[in-house]
Amino acid sequence: MDQATNLRNIIKAHEQQVKMGTQQQLPNREEKKERHAKVITVTSGKGGVGKSNISINLGIALQKLGNRVVILDADFGLANVEVMLGIRPRFNLADLLFRGRTVEEVITRGPEGIGFISGGSGIEELINLDPIQIRNLTKRLSDLDELADYIIVDTGAGISDGLMQFIKASDRVLLVVTPEPTSITDAYAVLKSVSRTFADTEEPMRIDLVPNRVGSFQEGRMLHKKLLVVIERFLRVNLHLAGSVIQDMNISKAVMAQMPIVLSYPHSPAAVAINTLAKSIHEGTSVEKQSSKKGIRELFGSFLKGKISL
Ligand SMILES: Nc1ncnc2c1ncn2[C@@H]1O[C@H](COP(=O)(O)OP(=O)(O)OP(=O)(O)O)[C@@H](O)[C@H]1O
Ligand SMILES: [Mg+2]
Repeated sequence: MDQATNLRNIIKAHEQQVKMGTQQQLPNREEKKERHAKVITVTSGKGGVGKSNISINLGIALQKLGNRVVILDADFGLANVEVMLGIRPRFNLADLLFRGRTVEEVITRGPEGIGFISGGSGIEELINLDPIQIRNLTKRLSDLDELADYIIVDTGAGISDGLMQFIKASDRVLLVVTPEPTSITDAYAVLKSVSRTFADTEEPMRIDLVPNRVGSFQEGRMLHKKLLVVIERFLRVNLHLAGSVIQDMNISKAVMAQMPIVLSYPHSPAAVAINTLAKSIHEGTSVEKQSSKKGIRELFGSFLKGKISL
């Protein structure tokens, strides 16, 4: 497909979205040029602390607030997100990069019209691209800038160079932690790595803590304070408290039913907490949008240069 056809398709998709009445206010032409999709990376030190659940539900909550959201499953090889969403993607990121599929084609629609790009498998192919391929692919992936207001990257557990690259390219980093001691020490390890990797930046890197599975919001605040005490003494990181998510058995019920909790149990404590988190992110957007210098081009730029260990 040539550039012009590609562009026409993107515009067509936009017009379609407007016709379908997505409640969001679409920007005028001038603003649209400036626009960058916000990249939110969701990470943790320890596995199994709730990243995928938070990514999905936060995504749906942001979509319900009138944003266009695309979730990228960056936990390559493990198709968790699609199972939780109860959808079967026809294509994945590798189809976009190597098999001629367009960005629109590899986005599968999920509940509430949320977009989803499957991490699939076979992504090692990315590492051996030549510079021309890299340039072309980065250009195509940057179409996401036009197709989404938020791109939520659900990462795998653990610390890697790849994770640091995702963090670098993000507008917001959500660090999920639970009250378990091992989760706290692993979250500290992520913060330590962030502090080292971004030791030379003008401002310390900002990380937003999301205490999950807490008994109360007070417990979440305590967890944040606990980490702050050690960080302030030893690390160069700006650790904010984004908002806590309550321990809630409806989360596992929702996973079993393959229907995210914000839709299946919208009044349950965890769903209310995630909606509140979404609202605070949504309300912060106008200011951030103006100052954003990042966006998807940078994210995939570093991704495709093979800096990300998969
Ligand atoms: N607030 C919560 N209340 C109760 N259970 C929860 C909560 N958050 C997550 N869980 C449960 O924790 C388990 C792990 O959740 P999830 O798969 O989202 O974690 P993850 O961090 O993405 O894991 P991985 O590191 O394997 O990708 C799930 O079984 C889920 O039901
Ligand atoms: Mg996960």
